[in-house]
Amino acid sequence: MSTNVHRLYFHYSEYPPSMRVLFTGALLVLGIAYMFAMVQTYISHAARDGSPGLSVQDLIIAYSGSKEDSRLESALKGPMIDMVDPADAARITLWIHDGASREGYDETVQPILENNCASCHDGSNPHLPNLTDYNVVQDLVAVDTGVSIYTLVRVSHIHLFGITFIFFIMGFIFTHALIKPIWLKCLVTGIPFLAIILDIGSWYLTKIHPGFAWVVYIGGICMAFSFAFMWITSMYQMWFMRAPEDLVRNAD
Ligand code: HEC
Repeated sequence: MSTNVHRLYFHYSEYPPSMRVLFTGALLVLGIAYMFAMVQTYISHAARDGSPGLSVQDLIIAYSGSKEDSRLESALKGPMIDMVDPADAARITLWIHDGASREGYDETVQPILENNCASCHDGSNPHLPNLTDYNVVQDLVAVDTGVSIYTLVRVSHIHLFGITFIFFIMGFIFTHALIKPIWLKCLVTGIPFLAIILDIGSWYLTKIHPGFAWVVYIGGICMAFSFAFMWITSMYQMWFMRAPEDLVRNAD
């Protein structure tokens, strides 16, 4: 292996101990922080689809919603199907899909519920939802559309700033490692930045097409791999590797 390197390159072992302690401290805390970030990602997204572990399906549900019917629709298609004329059931479904507005409720939905459902669902039976109460109906038509755009925007800017700091510090420390070929070193250093852009962009795109959940998934894995690679190589080379003789510069 040739040790010809750029004249600005210094291996960890050429740095004074204080600098290596600084690097090590930063790596330790960043490593712990990354663990917490992964645990947090796991507990907030895993098993949303009902099966254990964090899958692409979980991400689709998190970002674009479950796509399941609202409870009112399920009831109209299921146990309550015989309680109402199919044309009226279709009107209610249409109203839900059009955004369940207050006007639509007053005009179309309320009379249908009054005539067909209120005999049982008037609040007199505490086990049945009171369909004469607008707020109750609202809760029954809530559809899960995933994380709101507002939340995504908030989380995006925090992540973009945060991840840049993390991978800048990490990558800066890693530049002192001796890795050949050079393209591999550049790739590992650069990939997290590309990955975070694709990852965050795909949070939004998953709302439009669920296939983008794969980009979120793969982006996260790329970042984690880069992080682990840089962390382990840096720590190892910092304390257990001496730079090859022909590389070490003559100290004045
Ligand atoms: C004859 C009485 C009766 C009528 C009329 C009736 N329901 Fe029900 N409904 C029930 C009973 C009993 C249950 C609870 C048992 C069940 O879930 O099957 C229920 C449950 C429901 C639920 C709750 C399902 C859930 O997610 O927990 C909804 C929603 C519902 N009905 C909607 C309607 C609508 C809309 C109408 C009118 C088109 C209607 N019901 C008419 C008796 C009635």
